[in-house]
Amino acid sequence: DWTSDTFIDSTVADLKEKIGSDKVVMGLSGGVDSSVAATLIHKAIGDQLTCVFVDNGLLRKNEFEEVLDSYKHMGLNVIGVDAKQRFYDALAGLTDPEAKRKAIGRVFIEVFDDEAHKIEGVKWLGQGTIYPDVIESVSVKGPSATIKSHHNVGGLPDFMKLSVVEPLNTLFKDEVREVGRALEIPENIIGRHPFPGPGLAIRILGDITEDKVKTLQEVDHIFIQGLKNHGLYDQVWQAGAILLPIQSVGVMGDERTYERVVALRAVGSVDGMTADWIHLPYDFLGKMSNEIINRVKGVNRVVYDISSKPPATIEWE
Ligand code: XMP
Repeated sequence: DWTSDTFIDSTVADLKEKIGSDKVVMGLSGGVDSSVAATLIHKAIGDQLTCVFVDNGLLRKNEFEEVLDSYKHMGLNVIGVDAKQRFYDALAGLTDPEAKRKAIGRVFIEVFDDEAHKIEGVKWLGQGTIYPDVIESVSVKGPSATIKSHHNVGGLPDFMKLSVVEPLNTLFKDEVREVGRALEIPENIIGRHPFPGPGLAIRILGDITEDKVKTLQEVDHIFIQGLKNHGLYDQVWQAGAILLPIQSVGVMGDERTYERVVALRAVGSVDGMTADWIHLPYDFLGKMSNEIINRVKGVNRVVYDISSKPPATIEWE
């Protein structure tokens, strides 16, 4: 029978044997998967593991600082890299979702590779790949499934010549969380909703500017904080806000406004393959709408996405 404790014991033993005295580098995302994978590898080989956490300028509000802090408290040897401008430069003018994903994937690899080269004699690349990622990256090769290119798997630069170590590639998300809790990883990381690698770039429809990112970060922060304050966060599998590429007419005092529209999205799911929109209480949605419109400059309308997957997807891009 599978238990998190036996999984941890056997995985740590395997990792020790496999890696020996080699060095490992690993990118952290702030998400559950990479954090649990890094903690397991760290448990096996300690400071032979160097972690790299990149600020791509597309994370949630304050996310980089808060998560970096948690990682340091967990004893991980982690390098934080501020690469915001490199990502914004690469994204400038891009509007096609796949073009944005590709640009972000490319810059991430460049930034990561720069850091990996600073570590002498590194042999292994740690990855937080979980079982559904393995399945999905296989199916992406099929003709029917080239819907979205996920850059979690298969995006390795071949010039890095590192062997891959993926301690979670047999686990489902709920098992990863169980392992994470057994490893005493803080709840702010374990209980965290999934967040896409390209981050807010695929929740800003159209081209990305720093100004739009700031606006969306404020909206998203109000919504996520609201879910937490109302005890709804843990009932939702994933939630976020989308900045739409349209403006709508509003009225403020006796002034006519012409400002942005944001959509809120909250879904229930097991693995992201299918998802249902969550019936959030109207009172709560009303409160969020008021708060967002009153507090975020440049937004005068809030809508709620009531589409399920399929036929919609969770993200809008
Ligand atoms: P969709 O929109 O395909 O999303 O229903 C399913 C799950 O995958 C996440 N997602 C991504 N994750 N890179 C990622 O790392 C991506 O390009 C990407 N696109 C979607 C999405 O947030 C949801 O959890």
